[in-house]
Parts: sequence; structure tokens; C-alpha cells
Amino acid sequence: MASADYSKWHRPVLLAETLEALALKPDGLYVDVTSGGGGHSAAILSQLSAEGRLIALDRDENAREETGRRLEAMNTVGSYSIRSSKFSSLSQNLSQEEKGHIDGLLADLGTSSHQLDEGERGFSYHQDGPLDMRMDQSEGMTAAELLADINEDDLVNILRDYGEEIHARSIARAIVEERKHTALETTGQLAEIIRQAVPPSARRKKHPARRSFQAIRIAVNREIEEIESLLKQLPEIMSSGGRVVIISFHSLEDRLVKQTFLNWEDPCECPRDFPVCICGKKPLGKRPQRKVVEASAAEIAENKRSRSAKLRVFEFGGVA
Ligand SMILES: C[S@@+](CC[C@H](N)C(=O)[O-])C[C@H]1O[C@@H](n2cnc3c(N)ncnc32)[C@H](O)[C@@H]1O
Repeated sequence: MASADYSKWHRPVLLAETLEALALKPDGLYVDVTSGGGGHSAAILSQLSAEGRLIALDRDENAREETGRRLEAMNTVGSYSIRSSKFSSLSQNLSQEEKGHIDGLLADLGTSSHQLDEGERGFSYHQDGPLDMRMDQSEGMTAAELLADINEDDLVNILRDYGEEIHARSIARAIVEERKHTALETTGQLAEIIRQAVPPSARRKKHPARRSFQAIRIAVNREIEEIESLLKQLPEIMSSGGRVVIISFHSLEDRLVKQTFLNWEDPCECPRDFPVCICGKKPLGKRPQRKVVEASAAEIAENKRSRSAKLRVFEFGGVA
């Protein structure tokens, strides 16, 4: 029987590099906090022995179902569980026995191809659908609700900060004008308002709504706050020697991860010319690979999405 083609759902990026960065121990406890289509989870599980365990989490129900189908079809000896969790509830969704004993944790940030491709999820400016954009459709504000209430200046900030959109002001103004007489309910409506709001020169290359959709999605899912929360929990839940691997696709996310890892490695706040440390802040571990890992030209040729992926790794413990 031909094996299922999981790459249509989502093709995992930097797969070999992720496994290498995790430095997998076959009998270890591994957590994938962004299981998506289960590509990375499957690769981790395939390397575990009968004593090894994988916990795969995602806030998106479709992702958990797909991960379930994928892991179930594997012939592996390691055990696994699939749980619903967003980053900010991670600690609550781990047992006392699991906390402090995690040997490796992966966060492959952003959205899956499936989320973007399914028109009815409301992430796509290519297909018309309800203006939703929530990864977890059981909670929080939809994009339509956010855009119905937000004031123009706050929307400009979202479009600038999360989308680096240079036409943020005219797009925000056009949205606020339009909603005075028509409720914004579909992705098609929003894409068209944005297209009309930007100058003709901005309509030529990439889709003019690309940056705004990304920005609104990040705001709807509180993606930056979620990463901040994840990073805060990690020192409590990782084992000594445990490795955290984070793959980001957005410069804001990568900056946050980079700064946090640097700070964990060297938290001392004393002036550089002090002969000894008096602040008492001790390193939490080290960065085993100092340089950011990016996709090879071969991977980028096969999977365009890997172009902007940046992988960073941190190893807890092991410092006196
Ligand atoms: C890039 S995809 C992961 C793909 C996966 N590594 C694979 O191989 O198929 C990102 C996934 O993370 C999930 N996600 C993003 N932010 C999340 C959060 N704050 N909490 C939980 N899951 C999140 C999304 O729902 C999505 O399924």
C-alpha cells in the first residue's frame, strides 16, 4: 500500500537540523508544543525506545487530529500522548512527574500550511471565507470581532509592528471607513479593502493584503504574548541537560527568542568593569549552537516556506 502523503497538510521545515539540535536520547521525554501536521512529532517518536515518550500539543483541534492519524499509522515502540494546549497553559497541561523532566522541547512557530490553505479558517487572502483567523476556534476574538471594535491608531500599530506594512495608515483608515456602513465578515471583503487602499505600485508584486493578514492573525492569536509566556515557563519545566529548539518565521519572534537565550546564558547585570559579580544572577545554561540555523538552498527550493525559518537552541543546566 502506498504511504500517505502528509506533506500536503504541512511539510516540516529544518527537520534534520531540529533532530540534531534536540540531541535526542532514545529513552527521553520530549514535548512538541506545535504538533501541527505531526511531521516533527513523527520524526521525534521514530527515534525513541520503549522507555521514550513524546507529548504532542497544539491549540488547533484539526492539528491534533492530523497528528493523531499520523502517529497512529507509525510502527514505533516509544509512547505518546496528544493534548490540547496553548503555550500559555503549557505548565497546567503537564503532570507533576513530567515537569522538570523534559529532555527536549520543540516550538515550530506560526501557522501550518493547512490552516492557511483552508478558506473557512479565515487565514487566507486567496480564498474567500469567514473572517476568523483563530488557531483555536473554541475561544477568543475572531478577526471580524477585532476589526469591528479596534480604533484606527491601534490598528496602525498592529499592521506596522506585526506586518511591517508601510501603508498601515491608509489601510487602517480604509477599514475604519468601510465598517461605518458595512460589517466586515469575510476574508474576500478585507482583502479587497486593502487592495483598494494601497497605491497601484504596491499591487504589482506580492499580494497587497499579505502583510496585513499576517499582522491581524498575530494579533488575533496573541502570538507574541504566547511566545513570551512559553519562554517564561521553560526554566521550570525543562530537565538539567534538556534542550529547547525554537523555529521562528518572523523577525519579532526571532528577536525575542534570541534575546531570551542570550539573557539565560549571561544574566549578570553588573557593570562590565566590576571585578566580581555582585548581582548574583546565574546562567541557566548555554547555547550549544551559537549561530542561528537556516534552511539550505536545497530545502528552500523544495519548500518555499522554509526561506524565512530561523532555528535557535538552548540547553538548560550544566553551569556551576
Ligand atoms: C508551523 S505549524 C507546526 C508544524 C509541525 N511542526 C509539523 O511538522 O507539521 C505551527 C502549529 O503551532 C500551533 N500553534 C501556534 N501557536 C500556538 C500556541 N500559542 N499554542 C499552541 N499551539 C500553537 C498552530 O496551531 C500550528 O498547528
